Amino acid sequence: MSAGHADTGNRHEGPAEDAVGIGFGPANLALAVAITEHNSQGGTTRALRTVFVERQPEFGWHRGMLLPGATMQVSFLKDLATMRDPSSRFTFLRYLHERGRLADFINQKSFFPTRLEFHDYLRWCAAMVADQVRYGREVGAIRPVEGEETVDTLEVVTRAVAGAPGEEATRTRNVVVGTGLVPRLPEGVSPGPRVWHSSDLLPRANALTERPHRRFVVVGAGQSGAETAEFLHREFPDAEVCAVFSRYGYSPADDSPFANRIFDPDAVDDFYAAPDEVKERLLTYHANTNYSVVDGELIEQLYRTAYQEKVAGAERLRILNTTALTAVEERPDGARTVLRPLIGGEPYALDCDAVVLATGYRPSDPRTLLGPLADECLTDGRGRLRIGRDHRVETTPRVRAGIYLQGAVTEHSHGITSSLLSTLAVRAGEICDALLLDRAGRDVPEADDVAVPTV
Ligand code: FDA
Repeated sequence: MSAGHADTGNRHEGPAEDAVGIGFGPANLALAVAITEHNSQGGTTRALRTVFVERQPEFGWHRGMLLPGATMQVSFLKDLATMRDPSSRFTFLRYLHERGRLADFINQKSFFPTRLEFHDYLRWCAAMVADQVRYGREVGAIRPVEGEETVDTLEVVTRAVAGAPGEEATRTRNVVVGTGLVPRLPEGVSPGPRVWHSSDLLPRANALTERPHRRFVVVGAGQSGAETAEFLHREFPDAEVCAVFSRYGYSPADDSPFANRIFDPDAVDDFYAAPDEVKERLLTYHANTNYSVVDGELIEQLYRTAYQEKVAGAERLRILNTTALTAVEERPDGARTVLRPLIGGEPYALDCDAVVLATGYRPSDPRTLLGPLADECLTDGRGRLRIGRDHRVETTPRVRAGIYLQGAVTEHSHGITSSLLSTLAVRAGEICDALLLDRAGRDVPEADDVAVPTV
């Protein structure tokens, strides 16, 4: 794994890591950035030993939806570092400067880069911390080190996604689970060559050669659904695009300034301290900042397109609102959908070249990785994990190793920003501080420490 570790077959012995990060999306990348900056402070501070495991062969952020022209939903100032330390060398501005585009970017007069550009920024950051990451490996389990009465050390079991089989186990005092979101499909529907989740849109659309029906069906009225409809309409000028959703129309995302405060770092403190019923209310009031809503400009653009086509008498963008998808059948030359109008009318079949299910995501549950350790994690009255303000799961006293969580799985405790980029920089600093406190609290022997590089 990291330098200096003896590999004894399938187990990495020697001093345990301070933390193993599971998943290397923006959340754990932000943590790697915070730790790298801590480690390069020099002086009397001790370096944290960390390694991150990522199943993708290289860094990638929702690659299947890197649609040309699609823009970020947050300000570039909410990058991986600025909100924690504007003087960091990992800021988006520093990236622009190094790429020679700072003046060009400023001239655009926009806070919102394209997703393609932000992806390039994230890759630029990932390249600077590459020595801490093992790509192409999947974490299958986290288990306690056997023989310990209290659980002070964990073993993170990984296997290569491609190539030689075989497991490896890495010892660590803490894990930071940042495994992100899992695509959600309608019940009973499985993906296939002609039935795609929106997360696979780009590779699937690029590979599509036979299109006898000249029609796509896009299910869902959120940002991904609207972007998918716009993309297919633009990229396949001979095809009809049927946007199917149960709402009456696309609804705009509330990105007004007072509501936007729900994404501030301070809002995490407020949310965390709020009584349960206030938490519920806040999530409901402000769901329309993030869930099942669409960027206002994109709504205007789609409406203009639909109207102009109506005027011209050639409607290619068809909005099938108040309509439910009741069945999908994959066929050799495409797919058959069965649609049910919600306001009267009989269900009917609509054949197409492909169905894109922009039906959202669910958080991946860390308990699937924790095996028997999951029983030692405390839950609230609704079966949800109890999580400290420092993002650490509360456990039975026997478990002294730390299990930290990042992402949507902490939305019930830390608020709506949990699944987003907005507070990643600050949150990463908080977790880095918690790891340092843990290290100090355990009085880790000198021999276990790593010299701090002075840079
Ligand atoms: P993310 O899902 O990005 O990363 C998790 C990583 O863990 C993945 O790389 C995965 O491969 C890896 N992994 C999972 N299980 C593993 C295992 N067992 N072993 C090893 N690796 C494993 N938010 C926002 O604030 N502004 C925006 O503009 C957008 N835009 C946006 C567009 C699209 C198309 C989507 C789908 C989502 C957004 N989001 C967003 C929300 C999005 O959740 C957020 O941008 C980040 O992806 C969250 O980062 P994470 O690291 O938490 O998860």
